Amino acid sequence: MKIKILPEIISNKIAAGEVVERPSSVVKELLENALDAGSTQILIEIEKGGKSLIRVSDNGAGMGRDDALLSIERYATSKISKDEDLFSISTFGFRGEALPSIASVSRFVLVTKENSAEAGIEIKIDGGRILSVADKGSPSGTMVTVKDLFFNTPARRKFLKSTDTEMGHIADTVASMALGHTGVHFRLLNNGKTVYNLLSAPDLAQRAEDILGKDTRSSLYRLGFSSGDISVSGWISSPMIKRATTRGIYTYVNWRFVRDRVIQHALLEGYETRLIKGEFPVAVIFTKLPYDEVDVNVHPAKREVRFSDRNKVHEAVKTAVKNTLDLLDPYKKAAADFMQKERTGKASGISEPLAFYKSDGKDSYLHPDPPPSVLSPNIAAADQSDNGTGELKKASDMQADLWEKKQFRDLRILGQFHGTYIICESGEGIFLIDQHAAHERILYEELKIRAGRKEGHPSQKLLVPEIIEFGYREAGIFEKLLPDFISAGIEVEPFGGNAFAVKSVPVFMAGKDIKAVVTEIVEKIIETGFATGLEKASDEVLKLVACHGAIRANQNLSDKEIRTLVDQLDGCTMPSHCPHGRPTWISFTINELEKFFKRIG
Ligand SMILES: Nc1ncnc2c1ncn2[C@@H]1O[C@H](COP(=O)(O)OP(=O)(O)OP(=O)(O)O)[C@@H](O)[C@H]1O
Ligand SMILES: [Mg+2]
Repeated sequence: MKIKILPEIISNKIAAGEVVERPSSVVKELLENALDAGSTQILIEIEKGGKSLIRVSDNGAGMGRDDALLSIERYATSKISKDEDLFSISTFGFRGEALPSIASVSRFVLVTKENSAEAGIEIKIDGGRILSVADKGSPSGTMVTVKDLFFNTPARRKFLKSTDTEMGHIADTVASMALGHTGVHFRLLNNGKTVYNLLSAPDLAQRAEDILGKDTRSSLYRLGFSSGDISVSGWISSPMIKRATTRGIYTYVNWRFVRDRVIQHALLEGYETRLIKGEFPVAVIFTKLPYDEVDVNVHPAKREVRFSDRNKVHEAVKTAVKNTLDLLDPYKKAAADFMQKERTGKASGISEPLAFYKSDGKDSYLHPDPPPSVLSPNIAAADQSDNGTGELKKASDMQADLWEKKQFRDLRILGQFHGTYIICESGEGIFLIDQHAAHERILYEELKIRAGRKEGHPSQKLLVPEIIEFGYREAGIFEKLLPDFISAGIEVEPFGGNAFAVKSVPVFMAGKDIKAVVTEIVEKIIETGFATGLEKASDEVLKLVACHGAIRANQNLSDKEIRTLVDQLDGCTMPSHCPHGRPTWISFTINELEKFFKRIG
């Protein structure tokens, strides 16, 4: 016989290879167990980045003697019991392999006591071998100590990074769990020093401030959206906050922290053109949907999930993000209110707190205090302000006021600076408008409306058609995009082989080197990946045509041209950013200027 069943001690070590990648994975597993046990206080003690010590103590349900002995056996779990349970998992754990895996690659001590029991029990295990089992006086709850991680798997130990790096991963893990469980008090100590002391917070705002930093708080806005059995809540940052990585993005599915591409993609799509490629927001997003629509059993460390209906999740997250951002944009907000008023006679207002904040019994055991609803600080402040009549003024009305005052056509134009920026003033402050970005936005929206109506842009015939010769690949892609070029006013026809003849150009492109423009657009689309789909590519054509057609920087404009440009911004649905995400204007209020010049404190 060549085939043998492996002894459990070896199979546990193999499982550990998947479950326990580094010290932070141990922290994650132990925190999940503590949360599953309904703990409200969790202490995490770390030494040497978790390489010499990880200890997690909780005040949760604890275990009786028999359960404690079972818990360190492979496939022993209290969380699921039958086949069907696997397809409707509401706990973090379900495989029954975390504790035995961790115990097989460390010096492990489990102390646990149920509330009702006289004494607790202590189990000591070294590299998977049980050393001792004894009664132990202890408080109710569970304490797991993991020393010398990977001491018996030197190859693994070698892969560990510096103490600081490993500690960084641990702090990230604790942060991600703590953001998802504001009702739980988390304390993280590194070599005896406090890294986090996150008291049970009444709202996510406080916890977000503790973890993401004070300055983020004033730029975070609440998400709230539900449709059928799916709901999305949490916070996202204003488009002015831009990060170079996705590290500030925390996404949760049914309170489980996961790195999920569908949600992340939907989040970025929700920002539309407010962010450019390579810029990321700060976000904490909770997506809640029926347990049987999420498969959590797809990744060894449970960091990923699979949705039975990805589109539904994508759409919900994208809409939640877009709705929140639209409400922040005074211009869009006013338009939305106007539409709403037309329809119902009422302003749209701020979205209601979500139904799922009212936790059912099952959830409240797992998540003693699910994140309550939080209004964004600005909106909340606006809500409380008194309008002098003793009535509380609605946030939506305040936003509408702002809109009323800030119409572009009401701005007084002071002049053009550096041939690039238009300086304007309103009663409240000064505005600097980037003439290229603004014109790009105006052209793009105009092109988009015409494309939607399938009506071409007014164009001008070329005296002699311009012939463009492409390579094979470029020609194939260009051919697919022909209708988009035509709707943008660039009339093109196949001219045999890989050649095309441009017969007319949009009025705003008259006199430009059309061959260079078209070639550049096709190349850009190939570079950004045609794979993102034809619809995206079509939109990109419009954006690039708008960019090429827009007035440049360093171009002097007449007073009349400036006035027309500024006034046209009023017709845009999103005048604040150019189609590629750059801001079109910035403003300084009188108050900001006075603060800057230290006229006021
Ligand atoms: N902190 C704790 N408090 C109370 N019970 C615990 C605690 N940690 C573990 N347990 C019990 O021990 C069992 C085994 O834990 P373990 O983490 O190995 O498996 P699991 O959580 O069921 O599944 P998974 O391997 O997916 O994490 C759990 O099902 C639970 O009953
Ligand atoms: Mg577990």
